[in-house]
Amino acid sequence: GPGDEPAGDLAGLRVLVTAGATIERIDPVRYITNHSTGRMGFALAQAARDRGARVTLVAGSTAEPPPPMDAVVRVESAEQMFHAVEDASCDAHVVIMAAAVADYRPRRVAEQKIKKTDGPAVLELERTRDILAWLGAHRRDGQTLCGFSMETADLVTNSRRKLVEKGIDLIVANDLSTPGAGFGVGTNVVTLITPDGQTRLPLASKREVADQVLTAVLRARAGR
Ligand code: CTP
Ligand code: CA
Repeated sequence: GPGDEPAGDLAGLRVLVTAGATIERIDPVRYITNHSTGRMGFALAQAARDRGARVTLVAGSTAEPPPPMDAVVRVESAEQMFHAVEDASCDAHVVIMAAAVADYRPRRVAEQKIKKTDGPAVLELERTRDILAWLGAHRRDGQTLCGFSMETADLVTNSRRKLVEKGIDLIVANDLSTPGAGFGVGTNVVTLITPDGQTRLPLASKREVADQVLTAVLRARAGR
């Protein structure tokens, strides 16, 4: 947990963390989003900073304002988050995508409020860009990439598939069916998955999970 890690073991590293949820507008009064308070991402940013890293935080919609970092970029949509990550990732040694990025957005954003009618409504959606897959395909020399995975079933199989398909080094898998895990709680139960193996961590605070994730990132960097 906090305190067990050597102080300053991330000194000299530039770390980019994304946190919170994207918002995809439907019309001036409505939008699509995902559950996310941003707290896991904030805990990662804070832990990285405490361990000596220079931290850039890209934050979508969050329950509380982001903590001060070396740089903080606020974004709304997945497309805006993509551009912020594209900019900030070019000289980052470590990128951690803790944000809940919408997979789909409305194909058209209505300029005027959509009025209800008597019948059912259909909303046409299109895919957003997969930011983490883009990072995996455009990886800079010596860059380490970490993602998160939310699943309600087949946690390890599905999460390992994401690790491989996105071409990343570490995925932090969240089983939403486990008590104490997931949204709106201060704790988390996660499995850390790398190409070599996997470790299920016991129930821990988000800060403790953050420190374990950063230690696993350092281990992945050393093993390369
Ligand atoms: N992610 C991303 N860009 C997207 C969607 C997801 O960068 N457009 C990132 C998330 O930030 C997370 C990882 O990909 O680090 C996995 O997100 P998750 O939603 O669990 O998986 P998906 O690949 O989107 O697959 P699905 O939602 O279908 O399970
Ligand atoms: Ca998704």
